[in-house]
Amino acid sequence: MVTVPEPVAPVGHLALVGLMGSGKTAAGRVLADRLRRRHVDLDRAITQLAGRSIGVIFHEGGESTFRDLEAQSLVLQLAVGDPIVLSTGGGVLGRGENRAVLAADSTVVWLRARPETLADRVGDGVGRPLLEGRNALGVLRDLAEDRDPAYERAANVAVDTDGLTVGQVVDAVLDALEDVGLVGPEALAGSTVDGAGGRS
Ligand code: S3P
Repeated sequence: MVTVPEPVAPVGHLALVGLMGSGKTAAGRVLADRLRRRHVDLDRAITQLAGRSIGVIFHEGGESTFRDLEAQSLVLQLAVGDPIVLSTGGGVLGRGENRAVLAADSTVVWLRARPETLADRVGDGVGRPLLEGRNALGVLRDLAEDRDPAYERAANVAVDTDGLTVGQVVDAVLDALEDVGLVGPEALAGSTVDGAGGRS
């Protein structure tokens, strides 16, 4: 009988944080596959909870309504028994309650990139209300200045994603987790999936 080694998975949930365009959704999907976990995209969970798109939530109720739904969805998604891979939205660390929930039972990975790289990836910013009708590079520079300290404090590891494919980002995440003893070498085996980024 052939036995396939089980990946030694990170402790608790694996949460990806970082600015819009950092590749959280695309890398999260592949990471979940590699770790044989369920993937949850927090923005998608929010739209399911609200029954409305992120854009409509922002336009109807403003950012504070969106942040309330984000906090609720985070708790709901992390309350499940099995550890998941969670792709968060870029602003999730803005609330202390979210930082506490993530710190309690998740390994947190910060996907970093230069604002220029992020602006290239988000393109015209469709579906991202904070970028609508604004200069994406300028907004992302400001957000980086504002949020990087929180990402840094929350993260167990940080991975620079400039110039990397999704598959390379996933490998770099697993390498970084292994370096700090949060994932076993078995998780590094197996094929990687390269490709353009999708959302996040
Ligand atoms: C936001 C990022 C978005 C989404 C919302 C707000 C932010 O998610 O949650 O538009 O505050 O940075 P992505 O980071 O997946 O684009």
